[in-house]
Amino acid sequence: MMDETEMKLSSHTFLSLLLIHPYISIFVSLPLPLYNLTMTRIELVFIATPAMGNLVPMVEFANLLTKQDPRFSATVLIITVPHRPIITTYFNSLSSSSTNLRFLHLPTVDPPTPDQYQTNVGFISLLIEKHKHRVKHALIDIIKTESPSDSDSVQLAALFVDMFTTAIIDVAAELNLPSYLFFASPASFLGFTLHLSQIETELTDSNTEFRFPCFKNSLPRSVFPKLVFNEKNGSSWLSHHARRYKETKGIIVNTLEELEPHALQSLYNDSQLPRVYPIGPILDLHGSARWNPNAVQYKRIMEWLDMQTKSSVVFLCFGSMGSLSMGQVAQIAFGLERAGFRFLWALREPPKARLEDPKDYTNYDNVLPDGFLERTAEIGLVCGWVPQAKVLAHKAVGVFVSHCGWNSILESLWYEVPIATWPIYAEQHMNAFEMVKELGLAVEIRLDYRDGEDLVKGEEVERCVRYLMNGCDEIRRKVKDMGEKCKMSLMKNGSSYVNLVSLIEELTSS
Ligand SMILES: *[C@@H]1O[C@H](CO)[C@@H](O)[C@H](O)[C@H]1NC(C)=O
Ligand SMILES: *[C@@H]1O[C@H](CO)[C@@H](O)[C@H](O)[C@H]1NC(C)=O
Ligand SMILES: *[C@@H]1O[C@H](CO)[C@@H](O)[C@H](O)[C@H]1NC(C)=O
Repeated sequence: MMDETEMKLSSHTFLSLLLIHPYISIFVSLPLPLYNLTMTRIELVFIATPAMGNLVPMVEFANLLTKQDPRFSATVLIITVPHRPIITTYFNSLSSSSTNLRFLHLPTVDPPTPDQYQTNVGFISLLIEKHKHRVKHALIDIIKTESPSDSDSVQLAALFVDMFTTAIIDVAAELNLPSYLFFASPASFLGFTLHLSQIETELTDSNTEFRFPCFKNSLPRSVFPKLVFNEKNGSSWLSHHARRYKETKGIIVNTLEELEPHALQSLYNDSQLPRVYPIGPILDLHGSARWNPNAVQYKRIMEWLDMQTKSSVVFLCFGSMGSLSMGQVAQIAFGLERAGFRFLWALREPPKARLEDPKDYTNYDNVLPDGFLERTAEIGLVCGWVPQAKVLAHKAVGVFVSHCGWNSILESLWYEVPIATWPIYAEQHMNAFEMVKELGLAVEIRLDYRDGEDLVKGEEVERCVRYLMNGCDEIRRKVKDMGEKCKMSLMKNGSSYVNLVSLIEELTSS
């Protein structure tokens, strides 16, 4: 099924490459009265939050649009942030692969100073705000250089922002461009941010549960993103962005009807919202394998997996920004060793400064218990950064212990690997809650884990691993079923495909 989708897309790529070829564009701009061959090229611009979880799906979405319709070409505006070498590596790998996408680095601005923000979301939001001028100039340049003086065959049609880049809606408005929101987290979280301002006064009460239209169950306070309770600015940044979502002309969500029917219905019911298009799952299935900074490690991991039998490995990975305290790492090691199942563990060192990403350990001696690596050499592999999608695609992987970032959840469903939830930051606790309580698609290790405040004991890790590897047939069956629905939704006449086609109609109609 996947192959069919890929084939369809690649034939379109070929077409779209033809259409932007200089000779062809000269050809199509000639007046040809007999055949209506004149094709307006439609330029789309994308601006994502400079964090991998937001950036990668937005780039893939831009890719999808340009492949789906040969009239589209796209420019992705890139915001540079300090201490994020991974983003540079990612973009370098993309620029070298030729597609209908262009990447444009915006000139840097002075970042906000620590007295101006209290949270990472505050930092990002202010940083984006400071880029408004730069974006405006970039857009004006695109309009000028892209439009040949003698014809109007190129048209800048829309600007796509994401959950934290809403400041750019102002720039689009100034230039009379429609803006759209691309939301890389689930529909449930979109509904949460939209409803947050209505319960703001209750947040300081001792309420332990809250009703949100996008969740069937009451939502325990313990799964709210920590940011919401930040005393200095509370939930105001999230609500601020959510208010702006309503100003867009459409909201694209990286999800599918079949996965989040309730949350999506609650959004459709909201008369203040523009049209909502669930068009997922949008995945980068090559993932970091394409630009992995550590090719040797990648090879070692894949060779190790090749030697394991089907569904025999517990895979533990906590995301590009996830790392755990040393005490917690020791408990996991203890539990894995006691459980005795095969494991692949992506273990990363916590960042030393705020706003930095975790790094690979140069040496595990200080973090893993004495002799752990030697004693488990036969059954386990501890490594740093992994190309997660490639690992999930491997038949040897039986269970995924995950931080529940939305992209990871979608990848895991795609490859039909059941998740055991271990959320760490951002909206991951809420994603875990949705998967376990709302959808029955994952097994709970924790829903409300906070590193440094909570400790999952080795015995618990052992018990969970045993439970997961010895059965959970019902969940396995449901995950397999949802995995098939994910693939169906992208095929011709599938729900996400149909929504994508409507979006394209809207983008090309003006
Ligand atoms: C609080 O958040 C709002 C966004 O809604 C922002 O405009 C304001 O400057 C923030 N205040 C502080 C003190 O950070
Ligand atoms: C959507 O609206 C309909 C009609 O008012 C209502 O019956 C339904 O419960 C709503 N669904 C959600 C998920 O909000
Ligand atoms: C898609 O739907 C159209 C209209 O309902 C139908 O004619 C066509 O056969 C369908 N195509 C596939 C591949 O199911």
